[in-house]
Amino acid sequence: MDKTFYITTPIYYPSDKLHIGHSYTTVAADAMARYKRLQGYDVMFLTGTDEHGQKIQRKAEDKGVTPQAYVDHVVAGIKELWQLLDISYDRFIRTTDEAHVQAIQDIFQKLYDKGDIYKSEYEGWYCTPCESFWTETQLVEHKCPDCHRPVEKAKEESYFFRLSKYQDALIRLFEEHPDFIQPVARANEMLNNFLRPGLEDLCVSRTTFDWGVPVPFDPKHVVYVWIDALSNYITALGYPSLTGDMARYWPADVQLVGKEIVRFHTIIWPAMLMALDIPLPKQVYGHGWLLFKDGKMSKSKGNVIDPVVLCEKYGVDAVRYFLLREVPFGSDGIFSNEALISRINADLANDLGNLVSRTAAMISKYFPAGLPADRLSAHPDSELIDLVRELPDKVEAAMDQLQFSSALAEIWKVVGRSNKYIDETAPWVLAKIESDAPRLATVLYNLAETIRVVSILIQPFLTHTPAKIWSALAIPAGEQTAWESARTYGLYQAATALPKTEPIFPRIDIAKEIAALDAMLQAQSDAAAVSAASAHKNEANSEPAAQSAPAAAKAQVSAPEAAPEGVALIEFDDFLKVNLKVGTVKSCEKVAGSDKLLCSQIDMGSEVRQIVSGIAQSYAPEDMVDKQVIVVTNLKPRKIRGAMSHGMILCATTESGYKVLTVDSPVPSGSEVG
Ligand code: MSP
Repeated sequence: MDKTFYITTPIYYPSDKLHIGHSYTTVAADAMARYKRLQGYDVMFLTGTDEHGQKIQRKAEDKGVTPQAYVDHVVAGIKELWQLLDISYDRFIRTTDEAHVQAIQDIFQKLYDKGDIYKSEYEGWYCTPCESFWTETQLVEHKCPDCHRPVEKAKEESYFFRLSKYQDALIRLFEEHPDFIQPVARANEMLNNFLRPGLEDLCVSRTTFDWGVPVPFDPKHVVYVWIDALSNYITALGYPSLTGDMARYWPADVQLVGKEIVRFHTIIWPAMLMALDIPLPKQVYGHGWLLFKDGKMSKSKGNVIDPVVLCEKYGVDAVRYFLLREVPFGSDGIFSNEALISRINADLANDLGNLVSRTAAMISKYFPAGLPADRLSAHPDSELIDLVRELPDKVEAAMDQLQFSSALAEIWKVVGRSNKYIDETAPWVLAKIESDAPRLATVLYNLAETIRVVSILIQPFLTHTPAKIWSALAIPAGEQTAWESARTYGLYQAATALPKTEPIFPRIDIAKEIAALDAMLQAQSDAAAVSAASAHKNEANSEPAAQSAPAAAKAQVSAPEAAPEGVALIEFDDFLKVNLKVGTVKSCEKVAGSDKLLCSQIDMGSEVRQIVSGIAQSYAPEDMVDKQVIVVTNLKPRKIRGAMSHGMILCATTESGYKVLTVDSPVPSGSEVG
């Protein structure tokens, strides 16, 4: 394969679990990597983690573990997340990898020897969470212009990279290669806000913390953030060696970054590469942010949606589809639970899901042995067929511009047109007249063939659905599913009976689902408040954290706390999924026909709930009245012996039967437990 394609994501800070916003960049990169592979490219798809710096060192200190142990734990979770989301990366770089650390030292030394790094003293405004120094004029209302948090004055002996030396070369780069930054508006922003006003040299070492790559010739300094982080894109290919993967894949074809780090990737990064005499990447694409209605998605606001939970609830394909379809890549977009579920219902369950199940069901019903060869060759269906024939070009044109959302919109136009085609041709009417059989077969063939083409073109985006469609329509993977085969109308062959399959995307009850998600979010933010309060308490009571080990030190992973025998340890988040409240039993009666069940009406403050419990052998109905009980409120309702039960009353199980758990003095009905 001589066509290569190298695509990168930013490397993520493993300071905490990643959220749906981080998944956005990575899913986009994955769709692009899959698309290029389907087209026959030898793809190198790189992602990874940016593990050094003061913020991570502090986090680890707070937890009482070494920074290495801390990042190892978070990185393991990040890799699990990428596996869940079907991220097909070829390489995962960690800035703590030995080869990367050595390569950074080599780069630092080269730049120093060349005179592009020099020692001086830095004084500026430092934003710790962003690990960025800012000049007075860059501050916004005296706060960090990126995250709007307070900054502190900092002064220290530092090494500097002569960024200013590359100013003219960078301006030329921007002017001569308008494609270098996409979307174009971001190039103008860089030129007007940073390049033309004049570049200052960049502080590239720190002495106030030690969790970083030591400067080889002055080890009290560690290499500070951007040289360490940006170089990952070449160290992952084996730099300083210029042969092997470096020769094969560099320069990168496209580097995806969020808009807030475009500056680093289009000014500092090319300047570093110029200084090292390495060609520049072909393109840096600055995409927009996924936001909440009330602002930036951030770990600290407690409003983060966990992609793991979303994938578990709706499936990986639904989450990937939403991320790529909802917002044009490059623009900001609003993330909301409602928008996600509406998309799933409208586009996936109604449009695509229905199209596939209706078509498969009609083929099975009218032609149980499979579609016959006896079809009409001349038919008045050219509008649909023309749309299908034009579709691959439209999808490729959009993908080549990284316009995932437009590519999907084009595909869904055809899906929509096909559903309309079913209504127009009314196969159920054709089925009534025997002589219409060839016409009926033609209509169903056109539908099956359209779905085959669609199933091929959705492969970069949806990783499970194509195979489900192939199975529903008995399409053998191979010639009929190859990317190029989407260009040939008429390859579908199904002379065989179709198997019975489940709907690909079940519809979601939007009102119930929104209520469940909102409850979960509320529980998460309550938990964040509780754990912040207890972290505070612990901090106040504890000895100062031990000095953390330098970068080279070996990891010491703290031993996990043991679970009681036979009981699995669960995450705190799992516990929070259970909503517990105090209720007051208003009335209680035996369930007819059962000697074990009682049915209680329980005042939960804002509502009265009926709950059926197996406690009749421990309590008479009248014993339960006025008792305050602990209720699990978010169990799915169940019918037990004909009576609906909306929750569960907690009891201790003892040799002498059940003992209902209660509170030690009266509390208002509906009080939260936790
Ligand atoms: N470590 C640096 C990048 C170094 S690259 C040499 C970093 N890490 S990050 O974890 O904070 O962010 C990584 C990427 O996630 C960025 O491109 C950022 O824009 C993206 N996103 C984080 N939150 C996001 C949203 N809410 N929406 C979209 N992308 C978001 O920056």
